[in-house]
Amino acid sequence: MHIKLDTVGDQFFASELKILTAFQKKVVSKSKSAKDETSVSIDHWTDKSLKEEYQNLKSSKKYKAAKDETISFTGISGETVWVVGLGDKTKFQAEDIRKVIAKILKGTRGSKFDSIGIDVPGFNTIRDEARTCQVIAEAAYFTDYVFDTYKSKKSEPHNYLITLAHTDKKNNLKIEKALASTKNICESINVMKDFINEVPNILHSEEYSKRVEADVKKNLKGVKIKILNKAQIQKEKMGLFLSVNAGSAYEPRLVHLTYEPAKSNSKTKHIALVGKGITFDTGGYSLKPSASMAGMKNDMGGSATVYGAFRAAVLEKAPVKITCILAMTDNAVNEFATVPDSVVTARSGKTVEILNTDAEGRLILGDALDYACDLNPHYIIDAATLTGACLVALGNQVCAILGNDQKWINEILGSAKNQDEYMWQLPIINEWRQDIKSKVADIKNIGTPMRAGTAIGAAFLEEFIKNDIKWAHLDIAGVADGQSHLPYCTPHGASGLIVRTLTHLLVNAK
Ligand code: BES
Ligand code: MN
Ligand code: ZN
Repeated sequence: MHIKLDTVGDQFFASELKILTAFQKKVVSKSKSAKDETSVSIDHWTDKSLKEEYQNLKSSKKYKAAKDETISFTGISGETVWVVGLGDKTKFQAEDIRKVIAKILKGTRGSKFDSIGIDVPGFNTIRDEARTCQVIAEAAYFTDYVFDTYKSKKSEPHNYLITLAHTDKKNNLKIEKALASTKNICESINVMKDFINEVPNILHSEEYSKRVEADVKKNLKGVKIKILNKAQIQKEKMGLFLSVNAGSAYEPRLVHLTYEPAKSNSKTKHIALVGKGITFDTGGYSLKPSASMAGMKNDMGGSATVYGAFRAAVLEKAPVKITCILAMTDNAVNEFATVPDSVVTARSGKTVEILNTDAEGRLILGDALDYACDLNPHYIIDAATLTGACLVALGNQVCAILGNDQKWINEILGSAKNQDEYMWQLPIINEWRQDIKSKVADIKNIGTPMRAGTAIGAAFLEEFIKNDIKWAHLDIAGVADGQSHLPYCTPHGASGLIVRTLTHLLVNAK
């Protein structure tokens, strides 16, 4: 798929399929009986001949332009024209644009159009053609994604051209730039989705770190990469991380990436991203039941999410220094695997009683966060598929955010809102901090069963934040995959969500 811009010129006219929209307007009528009447508005159509053709259509007489109501006709030059109803214009937001574009593009799949022209003014309900173009492009990239590595019959390559026909001529350059950014971000999202969707018998920690390294070397010029192997992780005394890896056939890996902006000085902000990279979570000796175990290849989603955002921010030349730490291992069982009741010593020196080996994400992140704090960032964000409790609290749709600094949390919430990604804050209260005190060690890795599980996980992580560094934790257990309610996501597998939020945050940080 290629996306091109055009200010309603030849390219749009040459498209095999033209996508136009219509709105539904309430008719203010004097008679009481005709209260709910509506009329169709196509005032925004720039092409007069198309308007005429539409008005001559018999089917247009019954057309109401309700949301998703579509009529199609053949234009004078043989092109197919789709008129898509968007309903009430005033209620149509940016996220609705993504959704409708996804539905439209899915609808074109069987028809093999080589060129699709999209009439941007018709989608510009948010009164910003540049942003509308960006949102349409996002939806197109998202919808275009397929993971068919293991299908004998591959899906057809998508080499059609989408022309975004806009009227904001004087902002052409700005829109071109916005589209280039969208491409960088969405390609990074495709990379991280591929990591998540890759199967666990292939993508173990050693392979995962190699794939990240290969991507960095190929695509991220100037980024420093350090990969700690087992011996180096032992040298770092990462007892929690190693306890999770104890039952694994593979070595753990800690990938440490550093990006510095071209104009970096002592005042440059430094943000560290830390991600949970459990390539498969069996639960360990606290074994998961089969039904909960399937799908746990996605348990490296946090690391893929922060990597995706890091990658996009580097390509977008973010004005801040960014460290990205990915802690990779599986949580497996063999005769060396950690048994419940074990006590291990963290990199920070704290002792941890492991009462449930299935609460492993917080263990690898505890050491990774302690390591990140030693790099003296101003801010830390970690992302993890940390708790099933997050799905109970916020469903499949909403990402949980918790942390130790309200201003920092608000900044991240602001980016989430800007990008139309659902995020909601949960508290960490002292009672929950108390709940992880251990009788035999400093802390234990679980709290009271079935109580505030997501916040307990965050309270555990908070134990490893040093020097008052501002920190926020994102529990992406619900949103990392299976976004069947979002037409621009695949119903199964990686969603790619939260990368846009984090990229927006990093690129706009000052
Ligand atoms: N990876 C899981 C959390 C998870 C569950 C992610 C479902 C996505 C979907 C995590 O390692 C885990 O097993 N957490 C336990 C914690 C408990 C033992 C305190 C959980 O949620 O049951
Ligand atoms: Mn687990
Ligand atoms: Zn896990």
